[in-house]
Amino acid sequence: MAYFEWADDLVIDNGPIDKDHRQLVDLVNELHTATSQGRGQDVVARILDELIRYTVEHLQREEQLMASLNFPNLVQHKQGHDKFIEDLHGLHKKYAAGSFTVASQLSTVLRDWLSLHIRRSDKEILSFVKKSGPKSNLGLAHSKK
Ligand SMILES: [Fe+2]
Repeated sequence: MAYFEWADDLVIDNGPIDKDHRQLVDLVNELHTATSQGRGQDVVARILDELIRYTVEHLQREEQLMASLNFPNLVQHKQGHDKFIEDLHGLHKKYAAGSFTVASQLSTVLRDWLSLHIRRSDKEILSFVKKSGPKSNLGLAHSKK
């Protein structure tokens, strides 16, 4: 069983958002495997960099999407994203300063945060889109599995 298991209730749009989330889930699992197997610092650092970069890009994509949908809670969501990115950078700095236990802590932090982020924040966007009718599109046109 994977460290961070993909589940049906994580599905948002059967499209680009899910693709991002799945990629992030894979990276969290990669980080967890690397740290629990005691892989070299260079391997862990590479995965960490990729994970942080991808998380930041993903959250930016979601903010653009929310803006294009005139999503009413954009400001609150963005504040949540900014706070999380700040925390990630803080942990990354600790890791770079030589605190290697931070890497395994980061896989837990990312798994828990992402899982909540998808199940709460992103689901909120989804229900807004559903309420707004067919004019708003979250890629739901191709929502068949
Ligand atoms: Fe998301």
